[in-house]
Amino acid sequence: MLTTDRDRLREDVTAIAVLTGFNRSSLIPILQEVKEKYRCVDSYAMQLIADILEIHPVEVYAVASFYAFLHPEVEGRYIFRLCRTLSCEFAGKEQVARQLQADLGIGFSDTTPDGSFSLEWANCMGMCDQGPAMLVNDQVYTELTPDKIHAIVNEYRVKAEQSGTQRAPERVR
Ligand code: FES
Repeated sequence: MLTTDRDRLREDVTAIAVLTGFNRSSLIPILQEVKEKYRCVDSYAMQLIADILEIHPVEVYAVASFYAFLHPEVEGRYIFRLCRTLSCEFAGKEQVARQLQADLGIGFSDTTPDGSFSLEWANCMGMCDQGPAMLVNDQVYTELTPDKIHAIVNEYRVKAEQSGTQRAPERVR
């Protein structure tokens, strides 16, 4: 990561710490901001957050690892999260999962090498009567079939190509 990016990260973390009182309750808002803006919370960022809040880095790591949406790995620009809870399971989640893996070319918990897509499992998202259900970033998709998945993945491929930002972001070091 460039020095300017490190400076930016420090400024972002400090700004939230100032707003939230420089204590442990600052941790989640800071992690959310870093994850959203930099798409990962790596060891450099964790150390920096720990330094600024004057807590142990292990504590930062423990919180980041506990909450799935904060987990430290780099994720794709578009994150496909398929519900694996019971109603969606009975509604045909398995075929949908197979199609997703085939169309994205990755397994669950993986990210495409170009950084465009990640594939993950999710738990119930409250759309149980319209399963199988899936989120792509913040967008909900319901009553999924393999054909629908094929069309949705193609749609996101076009978006990824148009955005011209298919490379995974450089990790914060
Ligand atoms: S079981 Fe899948 S959304 Fe509730």
